Amino acid sequence: MALSYQQAKLVKDTVPALRDHGEQITTTFYKNMLRDHPELNNYFNSVNQKNGRQPRALTSVILNFASNINNITELIPKFERMCNKHCSLGIRPEHYEIVGKYLLMAFGEVLGPAMTPAVFAAWERAYWILAKMLIGREAQLYKDFEKWTSWRKFKIDRVVPEAEDVHSFYLVPQDGKKLPKYFPGQYVSLRIHSPEGYMQARQYSLSEAWREDYYRISVKRDEGARYANSVSKSYFHPGLVSNMLIDHMAAGSTVELSHPSGDFFLDVNNASNMPLVLISAGVGVTPMVAIANTVVKTQPSRPISWIHGSRRTVPFEQHIAMLRRTHPNFRTNIFKTDLANNDVVGVTYNYDFRMNLAQVSSDDLYLGNSGTEYYICGPEQFMMEMSDYLKSQGVGAARVRFELFSTGDLAFKHT
Ligand SMILES: Cc1cc2nc3c(=O)[nH]c(=O)nc-3n(C[C@H](O)[C@H](O)[C@H](O)COP(=O)(O)OP(=O)(O)OC[C@H]3O[C@@H](n4cnc5c(N)ncnc54)[C@H](O)[C@@H]3O)c2cc1C
Ligand code: HEM
Repeated sequence: MALSYQQAKLVKDTVPALRDHGEQITTTFYKNMLRDHPELNNYFNSVNQKNGRQPRALTSVILNFASNINNITELIPKFERMCNKHCSLGIRPEHYEIVGKYLLMAFGEVLGPAMTPAVFAAWERAYWILAKMLIGREAQLYKDFEKWTSWRKFKIDRVVPEAEDVHSFYLVPQDGKKLPKYFPGQYVSLRIHSPEGYMQARQYSLSEAWREDYYRISVKRDEGARYANSVSKSYFHPGLVSNMLIDHMAAGSTVELSHPSGDFFLDVNNASNMPLVLISAGVGVTPMVAIANTVVKTQPSRPISWIHGSRRTVPFEQHIAMLRRTHPNFRTNIFKTDLANNDVVGVTYNYDFRMNLAQVSSDDLYLGNSGTEYYICGPEQFMMEMSDYLKSQGVGAARVRFELFSTGDLAFKHT
């Protein structure tokens, strides 16, 4: 049921107070919810809880929703990333009951006496309007997943090193059945048992064009945070899942995957023949390999320009070089900062500095073509710099897509 005019006003009036206390709300919300429902630890990434990224992401959507309560249809496209993530993690309608209860309780704790019964009732209704929109979209996505809507066991068939600390895992379903199609650029969630006793899931982009017999992901070791002023190169908080996979999950081990998901993809069902510019840094190369491999197979004449930046080694370096040699419409520009003795300009790299799109010829960026599509993946600061440059060249939001290897909103907008 829609909010009355009076209820919409009550919700909006409380937004500034809730915004001011965002951190407190989310801390209270998750602390209480996970205390009473410890089974939900199997769904949440414990690191994003500790660093506050996930609580912030949730509150930001709710407050944004409340602030735009009279124009919610405009927000719908922004829910796509979140709904895909939810489905990839197996979030169900019944979970919304629990989240709603603890979220409203947290609002009450923060607002104190200002949370009158009328304000509570208005917020409850607002929450359920939002929740129903998400549940509805998630039901559609689950329908597309057909029978695979929960975790499916896969055997690691092979592990192949791709570059310094990036390893590809070839994953074969244990049930021996054919694997469903996905759009290149999408990811799977992979979950393992954590030493803390819960399951922990992480997302990994599929790094190969679709095949029915195996999926491939390519994982970079997350060394952790470097001690400040450390000369010993020692790290703390090494990444849980990436290190576990690389160090302990050899061929023959079993992992669990969810159905491919994600809103960062090339729509192969409605493919145009416009030039594609793929811009990646570090392990952000993974969805690009899937996109490039799909396009060279299905649209061999479609122009692709791949611009990549790495510190030392480029994952899939040989493969990218092979694509360049064998496909006349495939161009590359490689930036490397720490050159090795065997690096050769024009062969293994083009520029020995951090990626700077202004150095790339406008032909390779296809700036002269108003239909060019841009796909960008890498650290957030990197994507912001790429976005700024493309904006300065008049490339509008509709033609640029970003993939963030983390949770929550991008810290910038490409408008
Ligand atoms: C859509 C998507 C696609 C992705 N695709 C890929 C891909 O193709 N390849 C790939 O390698 N990765 C990919 N990722 C990233 C991946 O999901 C994981 O985030 C990554 O592997 C790190 O996970 P982890 O468990 O190893 O590290 P985590 O344990 O999650 O730790 C992450 C970071 O937090 C720090 N940390 C941990 N605990 C604490 C603490 N208590 N206090 C402070 N800091 C802490 C760690 O030092 C580490 O740097 C993708 C992510 C998304 C969202
Ligand atoms: C109206 C209700 C909800 C809102 C507004 C919301 C919002 C969000 C947002 C913004 C993200 C981050 C998506 C991304 O950018 O990657 C997210 C992720 C997530 N949500 Fe929700 N969510 C809601 C309900 C739920 C429910 C009911 C559950 C289940 C208990 C849930 C569990 C999760 C999990 C596990 C993640 C991934 C967290 C991570 O990787 O750190 N959410 N949600």
